[in-house]
Amino acid sequence: MAAMDRYAVIGHPVGHSLSPRIHALFAQSTGQPVTYTAIEAPLDGFAATVDHFRAQGGRGINVTVPFKLQACAYADEVSERARAAGAANALAFDADGRCRAENFDGVGLLRDLTHNLGLSLAGCRVLLLGAGGAARGVLQPLLQARPAVLLVANRSADKAHALVRDFQALGLGGPELAGAALSDLPAAGAFDLVINATAASLDAQALPLPRSVFAPDGLAYDMVYGKGLTPFLRQAREAGVARLADGLGMLVEQAADSFAWWRGMRPATDTVIAHLRTPLR
Ligand code: ATR
Repeated sequence: MAAMDRYAVIGHPVGHSLSPRIHALFAQSTGQPVTYTAIEAPLDGFAATVDHFRAQGGRGINVTVPFKLQACAYADEVSERARAAGAANALAFDADGRCRAENFDGVGLLRDLTHNLGLSLAGCRVLLLGAGGAARGVLQPLLQARPAVLLVANRSADKAHALVRDFQALGLGGPELAGAALSDLPAAGAFDLVINATAASLDAQALPLPRSVFAPDGLAYDMVYGKGLTPFLRQAREAGVARLADGLGMLVEQAADSFAWWRGMRPATDTVIAHLRTPLR
């Protein structure tokens, strides 16, 4: 049997991660000789854990909460995408000893929205909830899709405004990009796409959202995935939104981009999403 190339996802906690299952399905469908495991790094031991994995022949990793910023700092070379996101979710360890950092979260979200869910973002009114790392990570590809409006709304308005200013300073956002407080939303009108990038769903908390933000024929998207409806998706359904999606598609698409970056071939994702999908109720 050919030697296997080793990959892993590193996080804390990481036991819940679907990435090993996703990459096992990719390995099966492409015939690539890879193994992929989940490694929990101590909170103060990200770099040491990565060093150890590399010393054992590891070829690349995905990085999840809370290490995405540290992954950027760890790398020798940081892609433009990862720089804009301020974080990396994938590292590649080259034969010459260099480490490259990438971020596929935003492109994964975009591919899920446009390819899997059939949305055309050009000219849409988009509401992005949250102004932390998860929101920052997807802002650039969302802007590149040319929405008419991209409003970043956050519990603390200062953080939303600071994020918008950062992107405008980088030349990545124009007049379509604006910041707001969640408490401003009753006056903000309806949005074709509402994306939850806050950590509220992780804590099973609902956000204070007026029904009016949800256009009835729109799409509500929670970047979190899990079993069933998140509190945000439940709110959206109660507001009468036609279409709901969780972050499973985004997770599988970013995994496929990571796999393609490491292995030079992009696996099919539709069968993997269907395989892992539990009905949203
Ligand atoms: P992440 O990297 O997951 O984005 P983060 O950088 O800690 O994590 O950011 C968490 C985001 O979720 C922030 O936008 C936070 O709002 P604040 O900046 O006002 O703290 C948001 N958030 C977390 N819990 C929330 C809640 N219960 N209601 C509203 N927003 C919440």
